[in-house]
Amino acid sequence: MTKPICVVLTGAGISAESGIPTFRAEDGLWAGHKIEEVCTPEALKKNRAKVLDFYNERRRNAQAAQPNAAHLVLVELEKAYDVHIITQNVDDLHERAGSKNVLHLHGELNKARSSFDPDYIVPCFDDQKLEDKDENGYPMRPHIVFFGENVPMLPKAEELVKKADIVIVIGTSLQVYPANGLVNEAPSWAKIYLIDPHPNSGFIRQQVEIIAMKAGAGVPKVVNALLK
Ligand code: APR
Repeated sequence: MTKPICVVLTGAGISAESGIPTFRAEDGLWAGHKIEEVCTPEALKKNRAKVLDFYNERRRNAQAAQPNAAHLVLVELEKAYDVHIITQNVDDLHERAGSKNVLHLHGELNKARSSFDPDYIVPCFDDQKLEDKDENGYPMRPHIVFFGENVPMLPKAEELVKKADIVIVIGTSLQVYPANGLVNEAPSWAKIYLIDPHPNSGFIRQQVEIIAMKAGAGVPKVVNALLK
């Protein structure tokens, strides 16, 4: 008997209780850094050192963080559902919690990529250095989707959401295209949950059950209800 498909769409909010800052809070990452200086292809050309420093710091912070109750309880869900995590996050907390199917829409901190060959991707657990080169001598870059760049994993993500029986949206302001449109790819009969202390459900076309709580308490609440 095949298990119902549950797609979980996560954003920075699910990692907030692990101590990783979100982006658009008053003390968020975009309050302390200019997007155009650290998260655009132009920034990489103009100021590679600043971009590498920004991601080196985020990589170190993510490695020092631990998965929280929300990441961990999503693994429990796999007992009764075919769970697919589609995350905008670049940390590896879902993987470290034990989730089996994790798709990163915006890249991963623990990987580096050739600035010339997008298919040349290697593990990267230490600080990236300016002199790091690919096998053809081209400079390496963070394996992160910058603003203005395309999102190679989007078609795969859309296919998953289109097959979902349940979609759980956790900890995202739903302000960044095209990730924010994914939830609206769900079948009309799918059950949609939104878990966020400051939920922005205006973007969601379907009927949605809102749990206006932090992920650490809200995700276990929903998972326990789904496992009943
Ligand atoms: N639990 C659940 N949600 C939380 C928590 C928490 N403890 N704390 C904050 N949130 C919510 C906020 O209310 C907000 O809705 O998490 C969301 C964080 O929103 P953003 O900071 O905009 O992060 P996100 O939606 O993931 O950003 C999307 O923008 O900058 C780009 O590529 C970057 O992936 C990122 C994308």
